Amino acid sequence: MERCLDLLLTRRSVRKFEGREVSDELLRKVLDAARYAPSARNSQPWEFVIVKDRKLIEELGKVHRYASPLLNAPLAVVVLCDPEASPTSYLVDCANATIYLMLAAHALGLGSVWIQSLRDVERVLEIVGAPANRVPVAIVAMGYPAERPTPPRRKELSELVHLNKYGTRWEA
Ligand SMILES: Cc1cc2nc3c(=O)[nH]c(=O)nc-3n(C[C@H](O)[C@H](O)[C@H](O)COP(=O)(O)O)c2cc1C
Repeated sequence: MERCLDLLLTRRSVRKFEGREVSDELLRKVLDAARYAPSARNSQPWEFVIVKDRKLIEELGKVHRYASPLLNAPLAVVVLCDPEASPTSYLVDCANATIYLMLAAHALGLGSVWIQSLRDVERVLEIVGAPANRVPVAIVAMGYPAERPTPPRRKELSELVHLNKYGTRWEA
């Protein structure tokens, strides 16, 4: 179980990928793990679009300036939410599935980065041909890592944790 903790601490956003393909067998394991994410009332309001078509990946990679890691990724996964299936929590539910997917990818030796999609909902839906009543909560660029990024700074626990009442420091 300590190794699971290690998995959480060593995942990094990877933005440079090797050219080699990811097998469907590996991808299946990644997507299978995403199904186990928690969701409100177990509503599982997510669906996944695997994008391997170069033309479509390039269109996704141009939805905004920070989407460019997609341009050198062998594949992308668009995580779609159905707001009707989980009206209060669909964004949270689908964020859970996205991070499960990214952690599973990391466990299997793949790299990934979450690409923002919530400012370009209509365009992303159009590119992958999804119905207008879905929300693309994330585009995940994925592939074998071609970089080992240094961890970005994390806030200290002392900046984040309160005991019982907001403002009381937790001295552990
Ligand atoms: C909701 C969300 C949106 C993000 N959007 C982008 C993005 O559009 N492009 C990008 O390169 N990284 C994006 N990231 C990745 C973050 O920049 C990254 O997670 C953060 O810098 C921490 O680095 P780490 O993932 O290596 O711990 C996004 C992450 C999240 C959770």
